[in-house]
Order: sequence, then C-alpha cells, then structure tokens
Amino acid sequence: MSSPIISFFNLVTFQLLLGGITSVLAATEPKLFREYIGAGGKSLTFSDLPINPSVEFHFILSFAIDYTNSTSPPNPTNGDFKPYWDTQNFSPSHVSSIKSLFPNVKVALSLGGDDDEPVQSHYLALWRKYGHFIDYVNFQFYAYSSRTTTPEFMGHFERQVKNYRGGKMLASFGTDDSGGLKPEHGFFEACTEISRHRELHGIFIWSADDSNKFNFSYEIQSQTFLATTI
Ligand SMILES: *[C@@H]1O[C@H](CO)[C@@H](O)[C@H](O)[C@H]1NC(C)=O
Ligand SMILES: *[C@@H]1O[C@H](CO)[C@@H](O)[C@H](O)[C@H]1NC(C)=O
Repeated sequence: MSSPIISFFNLVTFQLLLGGITSVLAATEPKLFREYIGAGGKSLTFSDLPINPSVEFHFILSFAIDYTNSTSPPNPTNGDFKPYWDTQNFSPSHVSSIKSLFPNVKVALSLGGDDDEPVQSHYLALWRKYGHFIDYVNFQFYAYSSRTTTPEFMGHFERQVKNYRGGKMLASFGTDDSGGLKPEHGFFEACTEISRHRELHGIFIWSADDSNKFNFSYEIQSQTFLATTI
C-alpha cells in the first residue's frame, strides 16, 4: 500500500529543493542595467551618470558604423567600423577610469543601430542561427506606439520572449520622444508584473544623451527598481 505520508514528504522535500535552487539562481543573476551613450554628440562623460553599486551597469557606446561620413550619400565600408561617438570624451582611458572607479561597470559598443520594422526579420534569422551564443536581448520596446498601455507592453514583452526563446529579455524605454511605455505611464508597473513571472532580466534606456535634461532621474529610478525588486 503506498503511503500518502511518504508522498507528502517527498513533495515537501522536492519543493524545498526547488525553492533552494531558485533562490540561488535569483542571488547569482545580475540585476542588469544598460544605457546607450554617445549618439547625441553632446558633451557627456561616463561619470555624469548615477551608478548604483547594487546593479551590473553596462554603458553601450553608440554607434560604430561601417559607412563613410565624408560622402553623400554615405557609402558602405564593408566591415571597416568607425566610432560615431565623441571620441574625446569616450576614449579608452575614460573606459579604464570609470571601470576602476566602479567595479560593477562594463563598457560595450554597439554596431550600427537601427529600428526599422524590416530589421526584425534579420535579427530573428541571426537568433535562429546564433542565439545559443547570445545572452541578453536588447529589444527596442520604445519602437512601439507612444500610446502603448501597460497590458499592451506586457503583451509585447511576452511575444518577444517567445521570438527570442532562450534569451534573457531586457525591458526598455526611451528618454527621447520615441514611443513605447514611459515611466510616467506605467513602465515600472509592467516591469513589476513581468518580474513576478521571473522573466525580467534587466532594463535598458535609450539614451543618456536624452536623459541629461531629466538630471538622470529615470536612471536612478530604474537602478533602484532593479536593486530592490528583482
Ligand atoms: C567622420 O568620422 C571621422 C572618424 O570618426 C570623424 O573624425 C569626423 O569628424 C567625421 N566627419 C563628419 C563630417 O561627421
Ligand atoms: C535638474 O537640476 C537642476 C539643478 O539642480 C534644476 O534646476 C532642474 O529643475 C532639474 N531638472 C529636472 C527636470 O529635474
């Protein structure tokens, strides 16, 4: 006769184990904050941004582009990328210096950069072929309509999690006049819900050059949210 008590204990043990594993995962998962910087050509520096020591902070220099800027129309240079950010303020020594001041900082650079609708098909083709080499997905949720509601944002997020299956999807908003869901219209409410489903791997903002006029208050809010919520 099978014992319901043993089954009960097995169930409890299993849940405890699962609970333990889940909390270990939650503890090691970085609370990732990313921000594009440099595309506005403004005189910003890395150290203008508030950096919360409780998150992993990635600056993304934008953009390195393989097109000439000296001809009209620009000509493709087929892999010969040039920096289009302010190379005076964002030099290799600035990168070393911000990294030594903040051990939680990494600096990446972005190739190209485009958000036209047809681009998605190219990214999906890339994902199907090389997705297993890619950790995080910066999906431009601010390319959606500026009338996006909180439930609609969550729907978009779910759809992109399915499109880029296996990737760690980051939620995003723009501090320029792009679309999507802004903090004052429910972005963080959507993030709270997504986080409850354990699908929020971080937040990125486009872009530091535009956030300057808000005194980087959305950067502070995003990092505090990550440090305290997920
Ligand atoms: C073209 O790119 C080079 C290299 O980044 C830069 O020095 C130059 O100022 C750029 N010219 C224009 C017109 O943007
Ligand atoms: C930014 O900071 C300056 C100086 O403290 C202040 O005058 C301005 O009102 C602030 N702007 C915003 C949008 O908070």
